[in-house]
Amino acid sequence: MVQCAQLVGGAGVEHRQSVVGGARPPGGGTGSGHGAQTTGSVVGMDDLEVVVVTALDRPEVEAITALVDRTTGEDGHGALSEHKRMELHHAAPPLGDGGADDHRFAAFLARRDAGGLVGYAHVSPGPEPDHHAMEIVVDPVDPGGPAVADTLLDTSMAWVRANGGGRLRLWVTRASDGDDRRAAARHFIIERNLIQMRCPLPLPAATRETSAATIETRPFRPGLDEEAWLATNNRAFASHPEQGHWQLATLLEREKEPWFDPGGFRLLDADGRLAGSCWTKVHARTEPPMGEIYVISVDPDFHGRGWGRALTQAGLDWLAGRGLTVGMLYVDGDNRAATHLYRSMGFVDHHVDRAYLTDLGQD
Ligand SMILES: CC(C)(COP(=O)(O)OP(=O)(O)OC[C@H]1O[C@@H](n2cnc3c(N)ncnc32)[C@H](O)[C@@H]1OP(=O)(O)O)[C@@H](O)C(=O)NCCC(=O)NCCS
Repeated sequence: MVQCAQLVGGAGVEHRQSVVGGARPPGGGTGSGHGAQTTGSVVGMDDLEVVVVTALDRPEVEAITALVDRTTGEDGHGALSEHKRMELHHAAPPLGDGGADDHRFAAFLARRDAGGLVGYAHVSPGPEPDHHAMEIVVDPVDPGGPAVADTLLDTSMAWVRANGGGRLRLWVTRASDGDDRRAAARHFIIERNLIQMRCPLPLPAATRETSAATIETRPFRPGLDEEAWLATNNRAFASHPEQGHWQLATLLEREKEPWFDPGGFRLLDADGRLAGSCWTKVHARTEPPMGEIYVISVDPDFHGRGWGRALTQAGLDWLAGRGLTVGMLYVDGDNRAATHLYRSMGFVDHHVDRAYLTDLGQD
């Protein structure tokens, strides 16, 4: 849905703004939704047009989804994170209603010669106040890919500055030296390295024998376990920028996903309450098919008893029982407890996704 259109700058860049899920731009800015808010020069190629859209119609969502799919390898790892894919998904139906308020984002569509989409940037609020988080998708076969990424990044930075400023976090999947250079040239620092690790399944007997604890897990019960799981998860991940702020709506959304299986969401009770959990996710259509440790945590009251190791094993056993031969997970490079645990169980690093951070100041 387009509420306002305006051409700005001299680089063939159109800023067309409306609002997804509410009458304000991501980050809670006070803008009226007019392109005149957007300032800053754009480094663009003559035939490249970038359109800033804060409400998407169905053909736009479909074009973005197709672009993201083109970047997605056989292992299912694409340039847009699960969270931002879900924002896209929820922004589409019901069209015209603009989607839910907690799925607000700005979409930057890059087209060459007014043709098909060659790049996309997605900017959404948070998770911390005064933060924006962005990801860039570039058509893998476009010969000007790096310049498309430059233009999308510069356009997004200008848009964030014009909409209240604050800090901007850029997530890049399978970060390369070129990504490091692009970010450094714009005064981003490397903030986080998210390592994808993989291990063969089933776990060998020697690994199983190092398990420090014998535990009994049970499946998650939809409609009953949400509150306890949210409390335990958010306590365990209290210092984590994303995982420590799960809300009921987020969890219920995941429960509606086609891959959700309460049987693979293993819970551990102790002392009459939830002590920890290991939530798995099966990627049946990737090559190779993979079983992911999706979210795992032990309540801080119970750390150091060997339950984290035992829950990891319970999750991997569940996945192996579904016939999967590759275990996979994502872990922050500086999470010493978790990286130690996973490497000791046979996980090895596969690739690194990287978060870059810069401060674009305040209005
Ligand atoms: C990671 C986590 C699940 C581990 O749970 P736990 O019950 O405390 O772990 P365990 O007692 O089973 O210990 C597992 C191993 O980690 C090691 N470990 C635990 N804390 C550690 C730390 N701070 N630094 C280094 N190693 C640590 C233990 O020594 C043990 O290794 P060992 O058997 O070789 O001695 C728990 O710390 C947690 O919930 N953290 C917050 C959520 C999180 O980070 N989840 C993982 C995201 S990928």
